[in-house]
Amino acid sequence: MTKILAIETSCDETAAAVVENGRTLLSNVVATQIDLHRRYGGVFPEVASRQHVLTIAPVVRQALDEADITDVRTLDAVAVTHGPGLAGSLLVGVNAAKGLSFASGLPLIPINHLEGHVYSNWVDVNAPATIKEQARPAEQFPVLILLVSGGHTELILMTGHCQYQRLGGTLDDAAGEAFDKVARLLALGFPGGPAIQQAAAQGDAHYFKLPRPLLHNADHRFNFSFSGLKTAVLNLVRQLESDGADPREPQLAAHIAASFQAAVADVLIAKTAAAAAAFHVAQVCICGGVSANRSLRELAQQRFTQMQLPLYIPPLALCTDNAAMIGAAAFYRLRHDPQAVHDLSVDVFANLPLTSVSLDESPEFT
Ligand code: KG4
Ligand code: ZN
Repeated sequence: MTKILAIETSCDETAAAVVENGRTLLSNVVATQIDLHRRYGGVFPEVASRQHVLTIAPVVRQALDEADITDVRTLDAVAVTHGPGLAGSLLVGVNAAKGLSFASGLPLIPINHLEGHVYSNWVDVNAPATIKEQARPAEQFPVLILLVSGGHTELILMTGHCQYQRLGGTLDDAAGEAFDKVARLLALGFPGGPAIQQAAAQGDAHYFKLPRPLLHNADHRFNFSFSGLKTAVLNLVRQLESDGADPREPQLAAHIAASFQAAVADVLIAKTAAAAAAFHVAQVCICGGVSANRSLRELAQQRFTQMQLPLYIPPLALCTDNAAMIGAAAFYRLRHDPQAVHDLSVDVFANLPLTSVSLDESPEFT
């Protein structure tokens, strides 16, 4: 039995969890800062790190209490996200983890946030089954990972536990970033993904014809580009305004949101399906904040059912940032990476690449 306390503070969520054997959540606490950042229309880094300082101790305490841990020395390790993310935010979590490790003698495991998202699909959850949410992928590789978050959009071939090959990714904006920017353009609020999804529910996805960037580009089979799509929405908004219409009027905004959301989902799933076929993968996992998107989930489910490929997407609470996924990743690192445990010199890295454990020829993330 391996019990890991995990801490995650890479962006605007202060999170702590206790995870058993990489799968079972004994606790999973997330203190979100969304209300604090809303007035700025995005995450304000200085405000985020100051808030982490205030919430980190109570959040860790709550995670330990809910897991019935009265003595941290009964745990096996402390894991913490050390990048990528906002440096000032990462520092708060890393320093808390170092303090706990120093005081208790527990091993310290630094975890890459992207690997955390990858392992969010391995956590057992009791949610009702929709997209096989309750299960985790079998130990069958290769697994194709589509990681879609606010900062990243990557297609990754996972060839074994903690073994990754990058197939492609966005050339400009991340998918979540595009959601956030289009939401701001339509004055739908922050964070943009849920706001676009909510508005789109009243709209027609075929109302406006928006581009599917790089969809049929042979030189960029597994790459994405979302900044052109964002510009197409901007041009549409300007066109509507010059025609005397109000693109922020709820019904019109709903049509724009639905058309934009469909364009993003189409490109993401078409390229993921193409990669799944090209690399003969055993299963497909989608993760990261944007994987909470209902249209994306439904399209993925349709597409991979047709292809008869098992598909896994985390329950909504594990799509966006959380510490449970960091605890899950730490368990597999501990098992598969002889260098998983670090000393107190662990640093934070705003642009940390995702690396494989072995020194094989797998290209590193950049
Ligand atoms: O993984 P995450 O919580 O943080 C990062 O690592 O970036 O992802 C946050 C991103 C934001 O851009 C947010 O707008 C997006 O995920 N997001 C969504 C939805 N929920 C969150 N995008 C589309 N639809 C959603 N329902
Ligand atoms: Zn994330």
